[in-house]
Amino acid sequence: MNTLSSDQKAIPRPRAWPLVGHLPNLAQGGLDCVTRYRGQLGDLFELDAGTQTVVLLNHPRHAQHVLVDRAHNYVKQGSFWSSVRSLIGLGLPTIEGDVWRTRRRMMNPQFRRARIHELGQQMAKTLDEQLELWPADGSEVDIAKLVSRATMAVIVRTMFGTGMSASEADQVTGALAFSLDHMLQKVVTDVLPSWVPIPGRQAHERAVAQIDDVLFRLIEQRRKEPSDGGDLLNLMLQMRDDSNGGLSDQELRDEAMSLFLAGYETTASSVSWGIGRMAHQPELRAYVSDEVHRVLGSRQPTPDDVPALEATTRFFNEALRLHGPVFFLPRVAVENDVIDGHPIPAGSMVSLMIDQIHRHPSAWDAPDVFDPDRFLPERSDGRPPTSWIPFGAGHRQCIGKSFATMEGVLLLAMVVQRFRFEPSRDGLPAEQLGITRRPKGGVTLKLSRP
Ligand code: HEM
Repeated sequence: MNTLSSDQKAIPRPRAWPLVGHLPNLAQGGLDCVTRYRGQLGDLFELDAGTQTVVLLNHPRHAQHVLVDRAHNYVKQGSFWSSVRSLIGLGLPTIEGDVWRTRRRMMNPQFRRARIHELGQQMAKTLDEQLELWPADGSEVDIAKLVSRATMAVIVRTMFGTGMSASEADQVTGALAFSLDHMLQKVVTDVLPSWVPIPGRQAHERAVAQIDDVLFRLIEQRRKEPSDGGDLLNLMLQMRDDSNGGLSDQELRDEAMSLFLAGYETTASSVSWGIGRMAHQPELRAYVSDEVHRVLGSRQPTPDDVPALEATTRFFNEALRLHGPVFFLPRVAVENDVIDGHPIPAGSMVSLMIDQIHRHPSAWDAPDVFDPDRFLPERSDGRPPTSWIPFGAGHRQCIGKSFATMEGVLLLAMVVQRFRFEPSRDGLPAEQLGITRRPKGGVTLKLSRP
């Protein structure tokens, strides 16, 4: 029990069940349950997630504090990050300190604007090929599945060039989807010793081994037969740190896995929610398609078109605000800290609740309304930068932000250009919350050609 100094306030906490704490409420109520608690207790409160207590931070100023101003005090430790490490090992998202600094410096050039522009050419070509395969006979399709396949094809092409076959890509995608679903459960069960039988543990290990088979084969093949292609694996093979050392096979595997994990389902789910929104609200579709027809007509977009697709970019940003895949960011405090007058002792687990921050009334008018024009410059003045953080903030901000934005905008533009779509069911899908947020049961629509 921590004693409070005279100027500190105890952290509020809702009533909990014995042993399991607030888990049943969270499992049943999802993010609505967090919204309810915030209404009752304010922007900062703690929950008991079974094996650990987590301080939930729901205000944009909390993101500024944890991710930017005092970022050195908040590290990626705890069961969430050890669960992520069990899949991607020590890749850019999970490493810290000097090792992270050196690696990020090595990788930054691959994600700079000029380089993304080059990758954008391959992106547009791959998306074009994928969209050609979409069924458009008016039957019901799950657009989330089609979009995921398209963004997977993009990450495979830009990462591995032509090195990965379609069946290997399917093997990796299937295994990765399984592991993602298993990972949130791992957050709770990882505190148990490895000999405790946990359902799915072995299947998770098998899935990781399947992905490893493909990745190590590709790495070995590239070492034997260097290619002059500009894909990311090739560039990672050429990277040198300050002492002129390159990455080991294991390091390359971990980085490749990180880019896979971070790089396709995230973009896919935000684009899929966006398409679902357009299907249900024709005025939103008109918002994007009027611009697409004016800027592109029926010609295929290129990376050079993206700056002119301003309304489409605002639409994508709004989809990320309300439906962004990363809805929480957990950290552990290294030293004692104080947030809003509440003590945060060293070792505390805190979690930035991105979904709450993205709807915080101090930054957003009518926060639940999908309104892309809120990103017009004249309506953005004075909004704190950490009120919109789908890509995180501070030095650990997403390295793939420009890549994802280019892909999201190109994909949305190409879809409205080529297809008519109408909803096949009432309302938007529910949210499936795991390590990321996805549309539960997909986004079902009827697709046809205009
Ligand atoms: C809409 C799509 C995406 C979203 C919403 C997203 C979101 C995020 C967020 C929130 C973080 C910060 C995590 C933290 O601070 O704990 C992050 C980090 C990262 N993302 Fe993304 N991401 C997206 C697409 C991509 C793509 C396309 C790539 C690569 C091709 C990528 C690669 C990474 C990497 C490597 C990191 C770790 C960066 C570091 O710690 O230095 N992401 N992403």
